Amino acid sequence: MTPLFDPDTYRRALEFAATAHGAQRVPGTGLPYVVHVTAVCAEVLAALAVERWEAGERSVVCALLHDTIEDTDRTWRDVAAAFGDGVADGVAALSKNPALPKPEAMADSLRRIRFQPRAVWCVKLADRIVNLADPPAHWAPEKVTAYRAEAVTIADALGEASPALHARLRSKIERYAR
Ligand code: NI
Repeated sequence: MTPLFDPDTYRRALEFAATAHGAQRVPGTGLPYVVHVTAVCAEVLAALAVERWEAGERSVVCALLHDTIEDTDRTWRDVAAAFGDGVADGVAALSKNPALPKPEAMADSLRRIRFQPRAVWCVKLADRIVNLADPPAHWAPEKVTAYRAEAVTIADALGEASPALHARLRSKIERYAR
């Protein structure tokens, strides 16, 4: 069996993300931001080990880098120079357009993700699985409800890319804010 991914590439992507995110923390915790991206990557790896979808390494690398274009000063060009155009296109699709209002930004990102290989869809499913831990205490009930509804939209739009991630996201939605 071929390996799921190249560990040297994994480490290079993790180091790129750690450097790019710098002192950023996981919201609501004191933890370094790379804890979030490695958690998303773990979701990807657990499903990929079972399902072995095409271009699995792209999912692994995009998971580690998924917030670098949206949340740091790294650009598509920086990511492309280090990991190739395919990875950079995936990370760009996973990034919200800051020029759009919030609800539209998610719909726009989902549309762009659907033009990407399924390997990229899986990263968005994994990201929302991780983000459906308990909502921050300061969130109003309407915000919690909206976040849950948005997760249903993501599951419907992208779930076919990975039965394992889809099922896991569905069960997280079920338990969210209960
Ligand atoms: Ni994320």
